[in-house]
Amino acid sequence: MKQFISVNDVVDINALVSKALDYKSNPLKDKKLGADKRIGLLFLNPSLRTRLSTQVAAQNLGMEAIIFNVDKEGWALEFEEGAIMSGNTVEHIKDAAPVLGKYFDILCLRTFPSLKNKEDDYSELFINQFIKYSGVPVVSLESATLHPLQSLTDIITITEDIRKSKPDNKRIKVVLSWAPHIKPLPQCVANSFAQWMNAWGEADFVITHPEDYELAEEFTKGATITQNQDEALKDADYVYVKNWSTYTDYGKVYDNDPKWMLTENKLSLTNNAKVMHCLPVRRNVELSDEILDSESSLVTTQAGNRVWAAQAVLSEILNTKQS
Ligand code: CP
Repeated sequence: MKQFISVNDVVDINALVSKALDYKSNPLKDKKLGADKRIGLLFLNPSLRTRLSTQVAAQNLGMEAIIFNVDKEGWALEFEEGAIMSGNTVEHIKDAAPVLGKYFDILCLRTFPSLKNKEDDYSELFINQFIKYSGVPVVSLESATLHPLQSLTDIITITEDIRKSKPDNKRIKVVLSWAPHIKPLPQCVANSFAQWMNAWGEADFVITHPEDYELAEEFTKGATITQNQDEALKDADYVYVKNWSTYTDYGKVYDNDPKWMLTENKLSLTNNAKVMHCLPVRRNVELSDEILDSESSLVTTQAGNRVWAAQAVLSEILNTKQS
């Protein structure tokens, strides 16, 4: 693996999932793989899970992990080619990324979208500039449009749960259900989950959201999409709850209708479904206490599995000869 930016960087999803679950059984089995290697975790936006799970994963592989909160501690970066830097930005990515490439064997980057300019965000300028100029493998810790480490974790979590609780080998139904939120959030987790579910192909995949919350077709193509949440939830085995802001009229919150919040009552429509969320979650806005605190919730297991997803990806990169 040369980089990890989307599902397109993965040759075999199930093989990567198996590798992650092997690491879960034996976290230190490749302790020597990353010896004398250094990984830089660069954050332009906040994080709890991604930051710490990737650091733990790197250390499990024997790597030294250095975290740099670029937004708080670094110079303000410019990403536009040909920019006349007479404004607030101090250092061009063309100058900063090659320097970072000298310090680190792998660079990881978190950068959220502006939610103001769809074309800019969906061009993935920031992470693409890092890839172009750093000269080392780049791992997305969530970019403007995608969150691949989260989606790999989600498929690991579903696979693990199927092995534990669904011995009948029946095809499963997975629903991505929009949830209310008080402010506009990126589409990354939803885009990415849709992209990975469609590529994985091992479940009937349904997306449900209110009118005007369509996601980009490049990620959802292949899924069943409905604005009828009750219909979507019928017989579901897994319900992934997530808010996202509007894509078409970009970055807006139109509908904060609390009736879209998943409750025990709605969950009764499902096939005793397990509930997922990437966290952080706004309790009793996105998801009710009654669900988050119940046996149905997989959220803590899911967040714990972030370590094994990151470890499997870093291991793949370390095992690939980089040109
Ligand atoms: N799910 C997720 O990416 O969490 P953090 O924002 O805390 O990293």
